[in-house]
Amino acid sequence: MRAIENLFQSPVVVAASSLSLADDGLFPEERAHVENAVAKRRAEFGTARMLARKALAELGAAPVPLVPGPDRAPVWPQGYTGSMSHCADFCAVAVARSREVRSLGLDVEDLRQLDPSLLELVLTPTERRWLQAQPEDVRPMLPITLFSAKEAYYKCQYPITRGFLDFQDVELAIDPGAGTFEARVVRAGWSDAVARLGGRFVVADGRVHCGVELPQAGA
Ligand SMILES: CC(C)(COP(=O)(O)OP(=O)(O)OC[C@H]1O[C@@H](n2cnc3c(N)ncnc32)[C@H](O)[C@@H]1OP(=O)(O)O)[C@@H](O)C(=O)NCCC(=O)NCCS
Repeated sequence: MRAIENLFQSPVVVAASSLSLADDGLFPEERAHVENAVAKRRAEFGTARMLARKALAELGAAPVPLVPGPDRAPVWPQGYTGSMSHCADFCAVAVARSREVRSLGLDVEDLRQLDPSLLELVLTPTERRWLQAQPEDVRPMLPITLFSAKEAYYKCQYPITRGFLDFQDVELAIDPGAGTFEARVVRAGWSDAVARLGGRFVVADGRVHCGVELPQAGA
């Protein structure tokens, strides 16, 4: 939990746990959403809903169904925003009040070496050059961190732009020692509000956790 709390500077409530089949705690429309899904998907979907309701309750929100939109993005109750992520046996959710935070992006990945065939897909040429210059002992786990940071950035920008970005559209400047990164959209014409956002990452418990936040102006 501490790893996820440390990702955000805004007033954000986080909840995290291992996955469990939580069908009983779901609203009928949520259950219907995953009724044909395999057990693993039902577990990640259900666990994420239970954690999200717990975190939202800490902010004073009433329990409501959290059914994704047709674009698969989460739909949060009026007045709240957040982000969810799941990996092999872990799920995490971050939520905040919309008056304080405009958007959040959270991503967790099991620490692993990214398949070498994915390196060219995920990393820009500049990022690949940066990677080659890193000390050999830390290099193997950096690609999954960059991957996760881009996913967190994507989730944060999506509610603002509703736009799709490719991995090559986003370039990261990452400071491994500080656990921070800056994500910048290199494709022309992207919304100024999210064209450049800062984020944080924490490696703990065999996972990398990445968070990106867009505070409300003046909050
Ligand atoms: C959305 C996406 C980033 C999810 O990431 P993932 O690593 O596959 O899965 P995670 O478990 O971390 O996250 C899943 C959650 O993301 C959220 N999500 C899905 N689409 C989303 C979107 N467009 N915006 C914000 N959040 C989204 C959902 O809450 C989902 O959980 P749920 O299915 O239980 O509701 C990914 O599937 C996707 O759509 N990628 C396309 C864009 C992309 O990756 N571009 C490269 C990076 S710039």
